[in-house]
Amino acid sequence: MDKKLQTISLNKVPNHIAVIMDGNGRWAKKQGMNRVFGHRNAMTAIRDSVDGASEIGTKFITMYAFSTENWNRPKFEVDALMHLLVTTLNKELPEFQRKNVKVNAIGNISSLPSKAQKTLQKVIDQTKNNTKITLSFALSYGSREEIVNAIKNISKKVVNTQLDIENIDEKTINNHLYTFNLPDVDLMIRTSGEQRISNFLLWQMAYAELYFTEMLWPDFRKENFFDAIIEYQNRERRFGKTSEQITSNE
Ligand code: FPP
Repeated sequence: MDKKLQTISLNKVPNHIAVIMDGNGRWAKKQGMNRVFGHRNAMTAIRDSVDGASEIGTKFITMYAFSTENWNRPKFEVDALMHLLVTTLNKELPEFQRKNVKVNAIGNISSLPSKAQKTLQKVIDQTKNNTKITLSFALSYGSREEIVNAIKNISKKVVNTQLDIENIDEKTINNHLYTFNLPDVDLMIRTSGEQRISNFLLWQMAYAELYFTEMLWPDFRKENFFDAIIEYQNRERRFGKTSEQITSNE
């Protein structure tokens, strides 16, 4: 594992990594267990990813924990996920402090059960001065809903003359998203072989490198995380420029 870390150039790490933690249900099913068993076994992968990101100097990592569409899952599974969120946050809080992790949340947080909201708020408050890495949980998150909300809020400002239409630019949009305090995503990792973005950070991923792996989320470990970083570093990010411009630093 350390060997893999050594092959990573620390001056070229993604600043913001987004993760779609997929495959918990299939992982559980493979062992003859119910889907919730898969979610309960997701924590090592989360810890390894955050630790890996922290070790290489990545400053932001955002994990897709619950989408707006996930509310349509069986009530049993939704309840189990909400319960898991509360117990996990409480259990991990001392670790977040020890590892200097600042916790953040994006999404329609007010739609979560009040116990989940309270626990989340407590963990956010208590870790707010941590500086090593910002770990954002996307909860009841949907990118299209986020954009619709942004448009509504911007429109209100235009209507009450707080904002001139001519002054609306990309920064205005950024400032009205749940991610207003996060930079653009550089790398998106999705496990379980599905090659989709699934309504996650659509605006923020405009120039992100996308990395897909067949591994199911509960099996994902730090060395697999480093594989994604190595692959990212082997890609050339051109942002619309030519390869020659990039190599000559124009
Ligand atoms: C996708 O796997 C995973 C989810 C929808 C939930 C993600 C939640 C966790 C990783 C754990 C809880 C989070 C916290 C913050 C404690 P899936 O269920 O869609 O798997 P499948 O595609 O194999 O059915």
